[in-house]
Amino acid sequence: MERTFLAIKPDGVQRGLVGEIVRRFETKGFTLVGMKFMKVSKELAESHYDVHKERPFFSSLVNFITSGPIIAMVWEGEGVVAAARKMIGATNPLTAEPGTIRGDFGVNIGRNLIHGSDAIETAQREISLWFSDEELVTWESQMKPWLQ
Ligand code: TYD
Repeated sequence: MERTFLAIKPDGVQRGLVGEIVRRFETKGFTLVGMKFMKVSKELAESHYDVHKERPFFSSLVNFITSGPIIAMVWEGEGVVAAARKMIGATNPLTAEPGTIRGDFGVNIGRNLIHGSDAIETAQREISLWFSDEELVTWESQMKPWLQ
């Protein structure tokens, strides 16, 4: 089953949006398979955003991600990578559609509340960067047979 990596960034945690954000993925019908509350090391932040290391915003991005605790998560479900990106919205919250997480709650591109993997291969890389196998819980929800 397809999996994606999502992280509620320090602004989302500080603004008390953890419950609201998690609720959206739960009520959509995706399955949570991993979650941890953690401070991010500089090394992990740099590795996670390695693709952007030549960009002018790289150091401020790393500073931001390491500035406070985040919620790292793995969610599972059919088409979850693309669907989560859609639910998150455009990178710039000012142009993100209303109804998306960034569109509903964000105003600043540098403070856009949540990360979501942009492709299946990226998701696989990010999941193994952030989580060990033992931290991922494989379970079949007996309450949601219509999602299997
Ligand atoms: P990116 O991977 O392009 O966006 P997304 O998070 O939507 O996949 O960029 C990673 C993060 O870098 C983005 O969430 C916010 C930050 N960023 C800036 O601060 N300034 C910028 O101009 C861009 C493009 C991104």
